[in-house]
Amino acid sequence: MERMNIGVLGTGVVGRTLAQRLVELGHSVCLGSRSADSEAGQEWLATVGTARGASVGTFADAAAHGALLVNATSGGASIAALRLAGERNLRGKVLVDVANPLDFSTGALQLTVVNTDSLAEQIQRRLKEEGHGKARIEGDAHCDWVVIDIGDIIVHVFRPEVREFYNLEKMWSGERPTDPVTH
Ligand SMILES: NC(=O)c1ccc[n+]([C@@H]2O[C@H](COP(=O)([O-])OP(=O)(O)OC[C@H]3O[C@@H](n4cnc5c(N)ncnc54)[C@H](OP(=O)(O)O)[C@@H]3O)[C@@H](O)[C@H]2O)c1
Repeated sequence: MERMNIGVLGTGVVGRTLAQRLVELGHSVCLGSRSADSEAGQEWLATVGTARGASVGTFADAAAHGALLVNATSGGASIAALRLAGERNLRGKVLVDVANPLDFSTGALQLTVVNTDSLAEQIQRRLKEEGHGKARIEGDAHCDWVVIDIGDIIVHVFRPEVREFYNLEKMWSGERPTDPVTH
């Protein structure tokens, strides 16, 4: 594999381990954190050295550096970390997401999405914050497939196997009508 610029977001054991291996494989890696001079980041850099182009920075620095990105932040904080990374630095890039949406704050292990707050509800809230009004959510009792209706845009949230089964892309792959007014 040819040398790539890779941004690893997250200075925990997972982020540092993945980032170290990626450096060993010859890639140019920037490890991102909330602060550019985080202790964990500096420790990692001291271990791997800068000779092979390794660096540390903020989440935004790592996201700007990488053509390929890895999200290895705490699952409950991943959205906050990705916001700090910045939409412009993320746009159009492949993000390998190894984070788990786990919440240990109550002492009992919970999922940060699904148990108390579904992905559809999070999208609905975000759309309202962005000024799109309150989007309608419809879904089946088992939540295999949820539809969020924003008017001009419809968002489908599927479980992976249901998404594969319904294969919406096939529907869109048909011939386009020649006359968009009458069809
Ligand atoms: N896929 C797998 O096989 C696998 C295996 C194990 C773990 N995991 C997942 O990998 C992820 C990383 O685990 P980990 O134990 O290495 O580290 P972690 O302690 O879960 O996360 C550390 C990272 O999260 C960031 N973070 C924490 N709170 C934040 C906040 N409020 N806002 C923004 N960023 C915040 C930290 O930023 P700072 O650098 O600024 O401190 C740090 O970079 C987790 O989601 C974990 O569940 C996956």
